[in-house]
Amino acid sequence: CGIVGYIGDKEAAPILIDGLKSLEYRGYDSAGVSIYDHKIKCVKTKGRLINLEERLNNNMLHGNLGIGHTRWATHGEPSDINSHPHMNSTNTISLVHNGIIENYMTIKEKLESKGQKFVSETDTEVAVQLIDYYYSKNHNLLDAVLKAMDKIEGSYAFGVICNDEPDKIIAVRKDSPLIIGIGKGENYIASDIPAILEHTRDVYLLEDKEIAIVTKDNVKIIDIDKNEVTKEIYNVTWDLKAARKEGFDHFMLKEIFEQPRVVKDTLTPRLPLDVNDIVLDDINMSKEVLEKINKIYIVACGTASYTGLVGKYLIERVARIPVVAEVASEFRYREPILDENTLMIVVSQSGETADTLAALRLAKKAGAYVIGIVNAVGSTISRDADDVLYTLAGPEIAVASTKAYSAQLCAMYLLSIKIAMELGKISKDEFLELREELYELPDKVGTVLEQADTIKELADKYINSKNVFYIGRGLDYAVSMEGALKLKEIAYLHAEPYAAGELKHGPIALIEDNSLLVGLTGHEELFEKTVSNIKEVKARGAKVLAIALEGNDEIGKIADDVIYVPRTHWMFTSLLENIPQQIFAYYISVGLGNDVDKPRNLAKSVTVE
Ligand code: G6P
Repeated sequence: CGIVGYIGDKEAAPILIDGLKSLEYRGYDSAGVSIYDHKIKCVKTKGRLINLEERLNNNMLHGNLGIGHTRWATHGEPSDINSHPHMNSTNTISLVHNGIIENYMTIKEKLESKGQKFVSETDTEVAVQLIDYYYSKNHNLLDAVLKAMDKIEGSYAFGVICNDEPDKIIAVRKDSPLIIGIGKGENYIASDIPAILEHTRDVYLLEDKEIAIVTKDNVKIIDIDKNEVTKEIYNVTWDLKAARKEGFDHFMLKEIFEQPRVVKDTLTPRLPLDVNDIVLDDINMSKEVLEKINKIYIVACGTASYTGLVGKYLIERVARIPVVAEVASEFRYREPILDENTLMIVVSQSGETADTLAALRLAKKAGAYVIGIVNAVGSTISRDADDVLYTLAGPEIAVASTKAYSAQLCAMYLLSIKIAMELGKISKDEFLELREELYELPDKVGTVLEQADTIKELADKYINSKNVFYIGRGLDYAVSMEGALKLKEIAYLHAEPYAAGELKHGPIALIEDNSLLVGLTGHEELFEKTVSNIKEVKARGAKVLAIALEGNDEIGKIADDVIYVPRTHWMFTSLLENIPQQIFAYYISVGLGNDVDKPRNLAKSVTVE
């Protein structure tokens, strides 16, 4: 979910709506605002933000103080009543929430036994009712919020306003992101920077259990014991252009086409030509620590976890350290074996994913060293990791990740090579060869993008496929995972990735006439093996679309269609092979009339577990 708040002299409603527009990536099941106009008035509705805008057009709320919310449903179906903001029963306190209140049933039962009535099914309503309960005793909003925080378990970022204290927003964070935007004679709260970027570039990044008392002219930050916390102002340097479509039909397409730049930005500053080394300024891990590392975990969720699979393959192969790549939601609950000889690499675009963050904290507690590969500067994961290697993809707006994934791969290439070099497993000469190849990658990405029209034709040709299988071996297997996910996410087609050699052990039973097989063959050491698997499937009626390296004529004789990508060092083929998969999924999604940038049921940043 995304939250935003404003206090100042301007009309709050348009500012909140604009803010919510740039937070819609966090969820779009419902949206709402509460504005103080002599008293708090709340308008909220199920569905996209546009529905809320329509409602507000018919019934504009005027006032200079307000909070807003865009929801990704957790507790309670998407409905008007379950939408945020929530109000207490006398409509005097309003609250927006991002996170999950775990003990909400217990609190709800207690409050009900004291006579409080609930209207929604959400965990959030419990928070506002609890604050109301304490407020009725001492009529001090801050104290009521602090008392509620003491009772509430789970994750939350709250924005709270109150009829009787219309000079402030109380904002708190615990395990869900929240920032405060600092203006002149006006201030903001938001889940993420893009929501306020049009108004200010000065922000406070709240830490866990910090509380901000935000008035028109002041922001005071305190801890749970009411001690004032002095915070540095963080100045945002991004370009607002990143948040506009700039002539592309969708953010996703724009972001796909940004990849030559993103790859270049992530790689070249770390590969200065006057130094025969990789320069990772923000990685402080000493050689002594590295030499003791006997095991690496790469932990992440979704697309980022597939960067982990590529990382596993590369690091094991070039640095000869065992690597486990795993999704964070599993890793964190299985008592993983962690100690000071463990390196954990966490990968995250947003830097806020709840499970990834929990895995990181688990590792740190056990004394492991944690490196974050993160896109969002200043995010919680980037702050909590021992070291951070930023991907320089810029803000990614489309829910389905494209450019951030490519940047993650680049960061993983650099890290793998750097680790191997430090351990003496890659010589300077080998490095120079690799560096040359890395320098050529942005142009090679451009070459793949030039085929977008051809790939669109293939998307049109295969648009009616019902079951799509993505297969590959080695690094291609990792790439196939991302290809299938992209198709599921935005085209809503049933797509499954399989290790090519595993197909015959079961999944091949699913193959029938007109199934589509996407065969990844860039990992050429294993080409002959993969080709045998492709033939097995073709013999059973499937159509084959292959992704192959330029000059590989053999595959042309077997597959129905082939998309060729330029040759590069074997370590880097994953990046080039994935790009056709992005374009393919994009055009199928467009062809099916889906909402490409905001696919159903998904959210870009998932700050609940
Ligand atoms: C969500 C998004 C995915 C993303 C995953 C991990 O599920 O829909 O696209 O890969 O979270 O997000 P992160 O920000 O940690 O990379």
